[in-house]
Amino acid sequence: MTLARSTKLTVVGAGSVGSSLAYAALIRGSAREVVLYDIATARVEAEVLDLAHGTPFTGASRITGGSDIEVTAESDVVVITAGAKQRPGQTRLELAGVNVGILEQMMPRLAELSPNAVFVLVTNPCDVLTAVAERITDLPPGRIFSSGTVLDSARLRWLVAESAGVAPQSVHALIVGEHGDTEFPLWSTATIGQTPLSEWTDAAGALLFPRERLEMLTHDVVNAAYKIIEGKGATNYAIGLSGARIVEAVLKDERRILPVSSVLHGFRGIDGVALSLPSIVGAGGVHRVLDMPLDAREEQLLQNSAEALRASIALFS
Ligand code: LAC
Repeated sequence: MTLARSTKLTVVGAGSVGSSLAYAALIRGSAREVVLYDIATARVEAEVLDLAHGTPFTGASRITGGSDIEVTAESDVVVITAGAKQRPGQTRLELAGVNVGILEQMMPRLAELSPNAVFVLVTNPCDVLTAVAERITDLPPGRIFSSGTVLDSARLRWLVAESAGVAPQSVHALIVGEHGDTEFPLWSTATIGQTPLSEWTDAAGALLFPRERLEMLTHDVVNAAYKIIEGKGATNYAIGLSGARIVEAVLKDERRILPVSSVLHGFRGIDGVALSLPSIVGAGGVHRVLDMPLDAREEQLLQNSAEALRASIALFS
């Protein structure tokens, strides 16, 4: 009888995002072993203890961790959440200076300790950090990517589902581009079930998603994090669940199509910039970035997003 190989997920950063992601992974059984690492000893030990006390009620996952980076060794997936978080009204790109510095400090050792791991950047600006992480390590393409607009797409699907009175799982719509202010929805290919969003009607036969409604939904998605940060200081639950979902696609080799962000090489003329596009995610990370039909407006918005990120990445190249 062959025993299933144990899977190890390391979450770097025991702040609200990292702890929520570890919590989500324990509840979902994303990995057999969840390790929480942070340089703040008291914080990480308390988070590990508090999470461990709940494991009699979760799946067959166990949690350990600490403030010695050696605890991360031999991970299958390393999710990086450590860094400064957005203050009210602050953009994600404005975090680049301090968080690139933190990443440059810890990435080489994390990669040395887990030479076969897939690295998922959650720390913002996650697209910029993905490009920096790829530059400072010699990991093969696909092994480093970010959660990108997986969370934003979930926000969009929830908003559309609430309007249409259907399950979010039945809304097939993506946000692509920067995980930030230049992100945008692919309305032209969005559907509810098999019905194009543009043709979806309410029970009385009235179109439910006219142009002005789509613009309101876009605004609500792009500004969701700002609104939550104003109210409670940070976002954590949905990004934690998004991260656990991505980890599962890798560890279970799901070949799931997710809008994660990886460094592009010649995609529609975009080179050296990481931004989110529908990608096949499985064992080893991103298998393939998928092209999709774009109308003229979406093509322009994609190029705009790439330009905004290119300017920020150039500061750290
Ligand atoms: C947000 C953070 C994760 O969008 O950037 O909530």
